[in-house]
Amino acid sequence: MKPPLRRADRGNCSYLPLVDLFRTKSVERIGADAEGDGEGSVGSLRKNLSARHLVGFGIGIVIGTGIFTLTGVEARDTAGPAVVLSFAIAGVVALLAALCYAELAASVPTAGSAYSYAYATTGELIAWIIGWDLFLEFALGAAVVARGWSGYVGNLLDLPTAWFGEESTINVGAALIVLVLTVVAALGIRESARVTSLLVVVKVSICVFVIVAGAWFVRGANLTPFIPPSRGGEDADGLQQPLISAVAGIEPAVFGIGGVLTAAAVVFFAYTGFEAVANLSEETKKPSRDLPLGLLGTLGLATALYIGVSFVLVGMVDTPDIDPSAPIADAFDQVGLGWASTLVSIAAVAGLTSVILVDLITMTRIGFAMGRDGLLPRSVARVSPRTGTPLRMTLLFALAVLVMATFIPLGVLADLVSIGTLFAFLLVSAAVPVLRRTRPDLERPFRVPLSPLVPVLAVLASLYLMSNLSVETWLRFLAWLLLGLLVYAVYGYRHSRLRRADADAPAPAAAGGN
Ligand code: ALA
Repeated sequence: MKPPLRRADRGNCSYLPLVDLFRTKSVERIGADAEGDGEGSVGSLRKNLSARHLVGFGIGIVIGTGIFTLTGVEARDTAGPAVVLSFAIAGVVALLAALCYAELAASVPTAGSAYSYAYATTGELIAWIIGWDLFLEFALGAAVVARGWSGYVGNLLDLPTAWFGEESTINVGAALIVLVLTVVAALGIRESARVTSLLVVVKVSICVFVIVAGAWFVRGANLTPFIPPSRGGEDADGLQQPLISAVAGIEPAVFGIGGVLTAAAVVFFAYTGFEAVANLSEETKKPSRDLPLGLLGTLGLATALYIGVSFVLVGMVDTPDIDPSAPIADAFDQVGLGWASTLVSIAAVAGLTSVILVDLITMTRIGFAMGRDGLLPRSVARVSPRTGTPLRMTLLFALAVLVMATFIPLGVLADLVSIGTLFAFLLVSAAVPVLRRTRPDLERPFRVPLSPLVPVLAVLASLYLMSNLSVETWLRFLAWLLLGLLVYAVYGYRHSRLRRADADAPAPAAAGGN
């Protein structure tokens, strides 16, 4: 039986309504909820996954369009052949965050991931904000990629742009892919894992092919100078300029070491998504061992493939001659292997498909955790006994994605996905030292090395990358968070299980901590 809410679950500040918002949920309670038995339970998720499945899901969501599109633009316009270093730097930044996720996911295995870690450390309001932020990352991400999928497939098969193009009023292609993948996600986690694995095998094999076949055509002359001399860039202004330029007047660099760093901030997008692995914690058979393996395995594999693919690209083609829209396919065209571009297209479609599927699965797990806590309607969070997954939540979120992807041109909102991700990284990295201080006794099967140095570096790196996003993206992000606060005030605050338990409990004689 699940223990009733204890004093320790209510945080140490339940007397003032304002500080009520910062009430924390104990790690024990999060663990008990994940077990899913007892009074008022919404059921528990079926445990089917191993480290192998987690790496499958991780690669499924990480390797999407980034490597196939950003590499060309950044090599040609910002970093030169040293875009390879940009990928390495972005990989190290992602690794810092992944280490933090691995510590928390192994010691607090929960479907809510960043949302639940925030609940345990900074309290309910910040947890709500981060959960709301993650909807942005995964739901908007799924819709943006579904429209991208439609455009790509439409182009490839010469289908009518009125139905498949980014500007179409009713995007039939996006609607179709969301519907098909919703059926897969609704069937269950095992079925989703099978489909994801298949797509992952296709795209990883093609990336390996690109590296091995491309290596034959690498020419030393194309790689020199490896870091072209720096020069001034074009100034963006108004809302399009990066926040750091608007606030501190620092312009993005072109070439030189500065260019390598600017490109690292852009190609970081290609690594985003690995943290979805942590949202599968409750469905993992051995979370303490498999989550660190799943997170770090995903990142290790993605980094190796990205460095390999970007290296052969800049080795095959002189950087000024790179085609920014289809760099890898065009590189094979240039060396006389035109047929290889078909393979690259297949990898891109497989990549886009698996990103949408894992996005759909991940956001329902976050919604499930929030519903379980009463911050969203609990009836929607209920686990279906047939599938062992939160079926209603899956259908509800899928419907939202379907509507967005079908009717709204979302391309301009793509950067919101990055800012949402980085905001989550920031909070998760900060949560590691906080939890080490507040809960030194907690069993930690995996520990971030050199804490607090690594978490602090992860926070700083996330801030740096966020500051490189445009003022417009920041304003849109703030608007989204304000909308979230409104929803919390109207619904979440009133229905919070912790708050209700607090209100029902007799007034304590002394404040307790968590
Ligand atoms: N990391 C994903 C991509 O590169 C989002 O498409």
